[in-house]
Amino acid sequence: MTLAFFNGEFLPIDSLVIPIDERGHQFGDGVYEVIKVYDGKPFLMREHLVRLENSAKAIRLEMPYTVEQLEELIGEGLTRADLRDAQVYVQITRGIAVRLHAFPDASPSISMTLRPAKSLSEETFNTGVKVTLLEDERWLNCYIKSLNLLANILAKQTASDRGCFEAVLVRDGYVTEGSSTNAYAVKDGVVYTHPANKRILHGITRAAVLQVAAEAGIEVREEAFTPEFLLSADEAFITSTTSEVLAITQVDDTVIGTGRPGPVVNQLHAKFRELIV
Ligand SMILES: Cc1ncc(COP(=O)(O)O)c(C=O)c1O
Repeated sequence: MTLAFFNGEFLPIDSLVIPIDERGHQFGDGVYEVIKVYDGKPFLMREHLVRLENSAKAIRLEMPYTVEQLEELIGEGLTRADLRDAQVYVQITRGIAVRLHAFPDASPSISMTLRPAKSLSEETFNTGVKVTLLEDERWLNCYIKSLNLLANILAKQTASDRGCFEAVLVRDGYVTEGSSTNAYAVKDGVVYTHPANKRILHGITRAAVLQVAAEAGIEVREEAFTPEFLLSADEAFITSTTSEVLAITQVDDTVIGTGRPGPVVNQLHAKFRELIV
């Protein structure tokens, strides 16, 4: 079943109510993570929770639980929800207080949802997806996994309106990442992706894929590339917790490579899946 958790209590998702003065609700004053659970095992959970701690630290928010306590809590939630293949959403906010911008004298809130996993079909992985290029209109601290996702949501909706799976964002003439994914281009067997600086989220899947690439002897250059480079790439792909490694086969009106997922993408996805078991 789908279960929710808020400040110490597990409840069925439809019966959980968040107080109106919760700062996540009013300000988006918080950080979050999404963790995928495969066959009862939360995948790369430690890495996600360490990033959650880092995001919290970056916005000067004290974590209400340690990483170890969060791991236990997620385990308890999965048992209670009786889920094997799941998606866990964890959110920490600056708590519940009368609405004033400056930090309140309040304890942080933690909320969580645990739902059956929404996985992409094998058909989607086999065909790849179309993406659209859009201006990156986000703030300057994209490495923080903050609740403030308005620019990401608007980009994703524009992508959807254009019949695309994802918006690939461009800032100052360079591709940064997708609205909810990291982005890559492959040229002459070399994988290019934006460096992990403040302009992108340091994807947990990205780190895993770079590791897998190193082990497979595939060269990776963490270098920003232009939209033109992407359009003329041999292959391209995006990664995320929910999308794994997913080929981009079309960017707006331009077909990438052969229009089918290429050998580098396929190899990286296969090797990535070996990590999951
Ligand atoms: C903006 C952005 N970039 C990249 C990613 C991929 O990160 P991860 O692989 O940790 O899911 C996400 C995930 O939600 C994201 O929101």
